[in-house]
Amino acid sequence: MTDSTTLGADRALKTKHRAMWALGDYPAVATEIIPELGTALVAECGVRPGDRVLDVAAGSGNAAIPAALAGATVTASDLTPELFEAGRRDAAAAGADLDWQEGDAENLPYDDESFDVVLSCVGVMFAPHHRAAADELVRVTRVGGRIGLLSWTPAGFIGQMFATMKPYAPPPPPGAQPPPLWGDEEHVRALLGDRVTDVSARTVSLRVDGFATGEEFRDFFKAAYGPTIAVYRAIADDPDRVAALDRDLADLARRHDLGGGAMDWEYLLLTARRAT
Ligand SMILES: C[S@@+](CC[C@H](N)C(=O)[O-])C[C@H]1O[C@@H](n2cnc3c(N)ncnc32)[C@H](O)[C@@H]1O
Repeated sequence: MTDSTTLGADRALKTKHRAMWALGDYPAVATEIIPELGTALVAECGVRPGDRVLDVAAGSGNAAIPAALAGATVTASDLTPELFEAGRRDAAAAGADLDWQEGDAENLPYDDESFDVVLSCVGVMFAPHHRAAADELVRVTRVGGRIGLLSWTPAGFIGQMFATMKPYAPPPPPGAQPPPLWGDEEHVRALLGDRVTDVSARTVSLRVDGFATGEEFRDFFKAAYGPTIAVYRAIADDPDRVAALDRDLADLARRHDLGGGAMDWEYLLLTARRAT
């Protein structure tokens, strides 16, 4: 394959990903289901007034907005600028001032060492080439600066949701890696390597109690969450498979039900300092 063929294939893949994340209503997922995650990541990174912060795969600003409220100078970068409209609205309502810029996590449009803190909240994990994305995170962080990553674990609820959807989804393109691998501490340590020091990692659970039943969870994700909508679209002409996925997603949520619909969604919270 020539370089221009590879480049063309990558552009096509990113165009597809952008369209997928623009489906449904991702900002509703961020603000109604997982708003605590952005604040938790900003706190873990110790964002201070005056820090230059880059939020990679920022979406509608789940982490970028609290970082700006902490007094940092924040750039919210994402492949899907369609999400910025909701982000700008939420930022204005919160009194936060930040920049929104379109960008691919695997090819960030910033100079080396541009930021004091580079963070990503369940975001960079969705870039398909993990090594390329990790290289970019390190490159744009200044030496001595901090990298903070919050990622769903493979064994946790969202990791299991992706495993549940996999048999129904078209096969991933060659070279694309599964997002929940970023929730595996060893995988992330290997990606960052000796370019970072002071790595701290722990798994934490988010209590989600917004869904009374498994069906309620499934129907919300089926309507709002791009990756789930995309899988349903891929099998839309096969009612038996749609019914089977309907059943599997509701069953998954039921298996995680701690009572009254409450669930714990596990994630890895990892911070590191750029060494060289
Ligand atoms: C689950 S959302 C997380 C958004 C936000 N960080 C949050 O906490 O709500 C995943 C985000 O990754 C973005 N994304 C996916 N692939 C990307 C890529 N290659 N480069 C940059 N952003 C990407 C999507 O557009 C989407 O906004």
